[in-house]
Amino acid sequence: QATSHSIHGDFIQCMSTQFRDYTKSFEIIFTSDSPLFQSILQSTIQNMRWLNYSTSTPLLIVTPFHESEIQAVLLCSKKLGLQIRTRSGGHDYEGLSYLCDTPFIIIDLINLRSIEINFEEETAWVQSGTTLGELYYAIGEKTSVHAFPAGLCPTVGVGGHFSGGGFGTLLRKYGLAADNILDAYLMDVNGQILDRKAMGEDLFWAIRGGGGASFGIILSWKIRLVRVPSTVTAFTISKTLEQGATKLVHMWQYIAYKLPEDLFIRVILQNVQEGNNGNNKTIQASFNSLFLGEIDKLIPLMNESFPELGLLAENCIQMSWIESTLYFAGFQQGLPLEVLLDKTQLYKSNFKAKSDFVREPIPEEGLEGIWKMFLAEEMVFIIMDPFGGQMNRIPESAVPFPHRNGNLYNIQYIVKWEVNDIKASNKQIHWIRMLYEYMRPYVSKDPRAAYLNYRDLDLGTNSLGSTSYAEANEWGKKYFKGNFKRLTRVKSMTDPQNSFRSEQSIPPLPRKY
Ligand code: FDA
Repeated sequence: QATSHSIHGDFIQCMSTQFRDYTKSFEIIFTSDSPLFQSILQSTIQNMRWLNYSTSTPLLIVTPFHESEIQAVLLCSKKLGLQIRTRSGGHDYEGLSYLCDTPFIIIDLINLRSIEINFEEETAWVQSGTTLGELYYAIGEKTSVHAFPAGLCPTVGVGGHFSGGGFGTLLRKYGLAADNILDAYLMDVNGQILDRKAMGEDLFWAIRGGGGASFGIILSWKIRLVRVPSTVTAFTISKTLEQGATKLVHMWQYIAYKLPEDLFIRVILQNVQEGNNGNNKTIQASFNSLFLGEIDKLIPLMNESFPELGLLAENCIQMSWIESTLYFAGFQQGLPLEVLLDKTQLYKSNFKAKSDFVREPIPEEGLEGIWKMFLAEEMVFIIMDPFGGQMNRIPESAVPFPHRNGNLYNIQYIVKWEVNDIKASNKQIHWIRMLYEYMRPYVSKDPRAAYLNYRDLDLGTNSLGSTSYAEANEWGKKYFKGNFKRLTRVKSMTDPQNSFRSEQSIPPLPRKY
């Protein structure tokens, strides 16, 4: 039996034969003895819950600068029977980009972050290690009338985010990030680099929402930039239960998905302390909005469609789209755009999240039950993102993300805790599972759908060492509905030996199906 130490040695030996310049391998390969190992490992871990998960430490971390180095890692890891985890931004909720139960290597794409924008063509090539903040900055630095429709958190990596779908404030106007991908370079299991033409439409389809990690290593994406007006308007109106939050949230469900697609109003629910001594707990609903236009158009639109919210011009702030990315990331007004480049993550915490899709408005009594559960807890949040608009026009099978027409909104449930210990995490995880159970009657059914980018291993996992189509179908249909089978077919064609596997990777389709 090879020890982990000898595997280390064999791997380094194998890698060094791949490099003409032997010394170069020392700059990109970090063993657990290396002084930088821990800081590189921890640098992009977003969910602090996985920070000291010592039972699952990689044998090595490789931080390639060049594609040939990734090819060498693939070749050597295959030779030595090691698993690979590809990490771009490290935001996976369940840590799948840096945890593994069998000996493994992390390929961290932190050094692959180039962005080439072609304004004439209104496209860009973006390497997978780029963060959303870096991409937004590169666009906003040059123009005030272009944007890209993707998520709100600037430290999220485009490698995981685009390959799982990716949505934010432009969702209703332009759909998902994955809907706006034109081409990609992917390294397959044999180390071949394939563009869209070479990989074929099935594989190109699969990596736009089916999760990249099951199919290879995505090196870069070609994206379509979208147009936005040079002035947009943002507002946030917060109401507590005492100020009528229940009725407003209830109404929002009937309104938000039907609004003109230039208007996006999401709702963030959280429990807050109120009163002079801060002893009274209540629920606060924040209506957090981006309008692709100016205040004088927004106010009459809101007066007509959602007058109960009572929006006034003084609640609104006009800005450029790039400034709106700072607003929605929670930065204070007036900070320079360069904060988008800062990799110090704003929201690092211990957390567990789950997701749902809502197809019928939840009655007020249903909402009141949520409030009851919220009031018994701390550090709990719900984010409701409205669908409709462009999301209704894209067919369910266009890309693997199937949650289109008929969905009013997406719900994300999040629970956080301060101390990273078993007791605190068990308590909070139990709570969020109870909330999820409580929500069952109010959300999508058969399947109860979920969003891949809000990864949730409670939905089911592959068994260690072997995958079963029937087992994976249970969680696969929640993320992908009818698209799951096509994903397994693509997997059979591109990685029949199932080399790229993880707890929730797509298994190959067995012959009998
Ligand atoms: P990470 O590097 O952890 O990768 C995630 C998965 O993709 C892993 O399985 C990994 O192996 C694989 N992968 C990564 N790079 C790859 C590559 N180049 N090739 C192949 N596979 C690759 N979502 C959303 O839609 N809208 C939002 O607004 C937000 N906001 C948000 C805020 C915060 C604080 C967090 C933690 C997360 C979000 N998300 C989100 C969810 C986010 O989209 C999701 O976690 C993405 O998968 C993160 O991509 P990263 O590259 O950062 O993760």
